[in-house]
Amino acid sequence: MAVFRPPHIPASEITPQGVYLSRRTLMGAAAGTLGLAIAGDALAAPLTGKPTAYKVPDKLTPKKDVTTYNNFYEFGTDKSDPANNSGKFKPTPWTVEIGGLVAKPQKISIEDIMSSFTMEDRIYRMRCVEAWSMVIPWIGFPLSALLDKVEPLGSAKYVAFETVVRPDEMPGQSGFFQSINWPYVDGLRLDEARNPLTILATGLYGETLPNQNGAPLRLVVPWKYGFKGIKSIVKITLTEKQPPCTWNILAPNEYGFYANVNPKVDHPRWSQATERRIGESAGLFGGARIDTLPFNGYGEQVAGLYKGMDLTKFY
Ligand code: MTE
Repeated sequence: MAVFRPPHIPASEITPQGVYLSRRTLMGAAAGTLGLAIAGDALAAPLTGKPTAYKVPDKLTPKKDVTTYNNFYEFGTDKSDPANNSGKFKPTPWTVEIGGLVAKPQKISIEDIMSSFTMEDRIYRMRCVEAWSMVIPWIGFPLSALLDKVEPLGSAKYVAFETVVRPDEMPGQSGFFQSINWPYVDGLRLDEARNPLTILATGLYGETLPNQNGAPLRLVVPWKYGFKGIKSIVKITLTEKQPPCTWNILAPNEYGFYANVNPKVDHPRWSQATERRIGESAGLFGGARIDTLPFNGYGEQVAGLYKGMDLTKFY
């Protein structure tokens, strides 16, 4: 199969295989020597103020980086495009249509979503398939709460998601050359969707979700590569068959449907063993990276979902 090279992955994002060492160890040793704190306690963040059990010990990624270094192809393919080009996008009024194999299909406005579900703080790691990562304080609610509301039928096995199509407000969706067949789509198995870690986010850093991060509603699945976190969702459909996934359609040998973070399975063109934490210094010799953790560090909560799968294989 021809190698597909997404235009958004500059060579600088990719660590040539064989070059990397165990850099978390290297950073740890350097920190010890120099007396520096590299991954200390999470910063005190201005969230909803409620205590959260969902946090990680890593340092938060600065808000500036979380909101200016983005992937949201509907606004362009450069990391700065979503923040620069999303000013015309209108996240309200907004309605999400939920249907398919459910007893109670419905259309819910974003206002109803905000008032029907209890918003929670969730500090999660996000690991992009491009081998960079962030630590983001989200505000959101479990997807399972929304699924309960529509009552999935016994025949429902998957949940399909769809992003809005608005070429007038999303400049990446218009123009002559379109590499993606819009809308951006993705999906989860129903048990993945019902896992307590899976949330629909409506905010970050104590504020309403910025347009570039997927306003007004986006998926966050912290043990999967970031491309599964579909933004600006307008449609959720319960299905019997595995739903399509934009990146999997574009390059099925590079981006799997499951896309669980897995340091043992390299991308065909780069290693997935380590990652670059956005907003943190490149470290000694300009190359320090941290080790990528299986399931992005959430194995205890989710490994049970994948019993029987060979975790050295690509899914
Ligand atoms: N959702 C839509 N609709 N369009 C996109 O291009 N990019 C994905 C995901 N969700 C994308 C999307 C990718 S590749 C990543 S890594 C994350 O969003 C990035 O989320 P962030 O920009 O909020 O960090």
